[in-house]
Amino acid sequence: MATRRRTLLKIVLLGDSGVGKTSLMNQYINNKFSQLYKTTIGADFLTKEIVIDDRIVTLQIWDTAGQERFQSLGVAFYRGADCCVLVYDVNVNKSFDSLDNWHDDFLKQASPSDPDNFPFILLGNKIDVDSGNSRVISDKKAKEWCQSKDDISYFETSAKEDINIDAAFLFIAKRALTHE
Ligand code: GTP
Ligand code: MG
Repeated sequence: MATRRRTLLKIVLLGDSGVGKTSLMNQYINNKFSQLYKTTIGADFLTKEIVIDDRIVTLQIWDTAGQERFQSLGVAFYRGADCCVLVYDVNVNKSFDSLDNWHDDFLKQASPSDPDNFPFILLGNKIDVDSGNSRVISDKKAKEWCQSKDDISYFETSAKEDINIDAAFLFIAKRALTHE
C-alpha cells in the first residue's frame, strides 16, 4: 500500500466571548457538549486526524479567548495559520457586529502572503436555541456579510445538537489544502 502523505493544518477559531468556540471544538474533537460556561483564558489547541483523499491531515485547532482581558495572544498565535474560523451567535447582534473586527484583526496579525484568498469560514452557532425563534441574524444577512468579504463560506451550526460541525471542519480543511 502506498504511504499516505501527511499534512498539518493550523486552524484558528475567533469570535466574541460566549458564542461557542470551545463548545464547537469539544463537540468536533471529543463528541461532548457541556451546558456549563467556563470562559477560555489565553489559548490552547487540540488535534484531530482525518483522511482526505490520499492524505492524512492533522487538524490543529486553536481555541482562543473571546474576552479581551484574556487575550494575551500576540502574533505567534496567528502566525502560520492555514485557515481562520470566525464564529458568531445567531441570537446575539453584537457577536455579528464584531465580525469585521475579528476578520481584520486576524489579517493584520497573521499577515498571510495572499490576504484576498486566505481561507476563512463563518459559523453561525446556536441555531438550536428556542428552536430558532430567538435568532436575530438571518441567513440572508450573514451571507451578505460573507459576500462582502471576498465570498467567505457560511455554515449554521449547533455545538449542542451537533449540527453541521463535521461538515464545516471538513470543508475548511479541504479549502486550506487547496490553498497550500
Ligand atoms: P470564550 O471562551 O469566553 O471566548 O467563549 P466561547 O466562545 O468559547 O463559548 P463557550 O463554548 O464556552 O460557550 C458559551 C456558552 O454557550 C456555554 O454555556 C455553552 O454551553 C453554550 N453553547 C455553546 N454552543 C451552543 C449551542 O450550539 N447551543 C446552545 N444552546 N448553547 C451553546
Ligand atoms: Mg472558550
